[in-house]
Amino acid sequence: MQDNSNTILSEALEAISAAADLRALDATRVAYLGKSGLVTGLLKALGAMAPDERREAGATINIVKNRIAEAIEAKRAILEGAALSTRLAAERVDVTLPARPLQRGTIHPISRTMEQLTALFGAMGFVVKDGPDIEDDWYNFGALNIPAHHPARAMMDTFYLHAAGRNRPMVLRTQTSPLQVRTMLAEPPPIRMISPGRTYRSDHDATHSPMFHQCEGLVIDRGITLAHLKGCLMDFLRAFFEMPDLRARFRSSYFPFTEPSMEIDIAWDRKTGAIGGGDDWLEILGAGMVHANVLANCGIDPRDYQGFAFGMGVERITMLKHGIADLRNFYESDGRWLSHYGASPFAPVMLHEERGL
Ligand code: DAH
Repeated sequence: MQDNSNTILSEALEAISAAADLRALDATRVAYLGKSGLVTGLLKALGAMAPDERREAGATINIVKNRIAEAIEAKRAILEGAALSTRLAAERVDVTLPARPLQRGTIHPISRTMEQLTALFGAMGFVVKDGPDIEDDWYNFGALNIPAHHPARAMMDTFYLHAAGRNRPMVLRTQTSPLQVRTMLAEPPPIRMISPGRTYRSDHDATHSPMFHQCEGLVIDRGITLAHLKGCLMDFLRAFFEMPDLRARFRSSYFPFTEPSMEIDIAWDRKTGAIGGGDDWLEILGAGMVHANVLANCGIDPRDYQGFAFGMGVERITMLKHGIADLRNFYESDGRWLSHYGASPFAPVMLHEERGL
């Protein structure tokens, strides 16, 4: 019995030390200490022995059993440590790998122009006003001296909306001019405001889109003259196009809400396409002295206050500044186009840029 126990112990210790992984170790445990294992077999055999013999043999077998169990536990700790190290090594992150290239976003050229308008006019004391895209007919037309059925309505291809329960139609605003009315009704003069925003007309080709952007401007104060209009818009155009010597002309025109009314053209060269100089002219914005009827409609006495107003297409001035030929590019979300014409989100809008004033 003693010999047998010693043999089993030394074989078990050898098998334990040879176990290469946890699975092999467990198989060894089952082979010796499991239900039909060798040590368990020795314990079962005790029952057939005489009491004296059994006591002695039992003590020996218990020692063997405990030594095997200890050896298994010690080996398990070693194997588990090794398994963890292997896993850690396999899961290591190689921080030396170069990062995947990120596509960096840019500020959309329309948004950038609106930021610039805000900065340039802001420096001249103008504040920004916003209003609804779905506008009351009266703000978009009536108050601006364009009564129902007036031929001037035909200047704009309007989207009319039939609003239940209203006696006037609603429209998708065709211009930002209703912001003049909203501002004059909301606050007393003096007023200096611009309103960059979305506008809508039923029109679609390379230079027209059913949704586009305009920026309105309004100045109301005592003693405002055409000279203020001219000075303000020349300063703006020269700063916006970054050309201190840009030439422009003020050509008389018609708008229902201004009198006199004018269109402003900037000089350009038809052959080279360069703007700012040359013998040809490009229309860039509309303007005029606010019509007495509009002031009166908004509760301002035209004998006391005067003002000027202007309105421009944001897409149009952006296209001219950057040489963009097709308006539809603005709305196509082509990443290559946007990264070329878009502005860096980290570059703040400046009052003057490289060719600045
Ligand atoms: N609202 C005009 C348009 O959409 C632009 C305009 C012209 C606005 C003259 C004005 C202005 O304020 O005075 O064509």
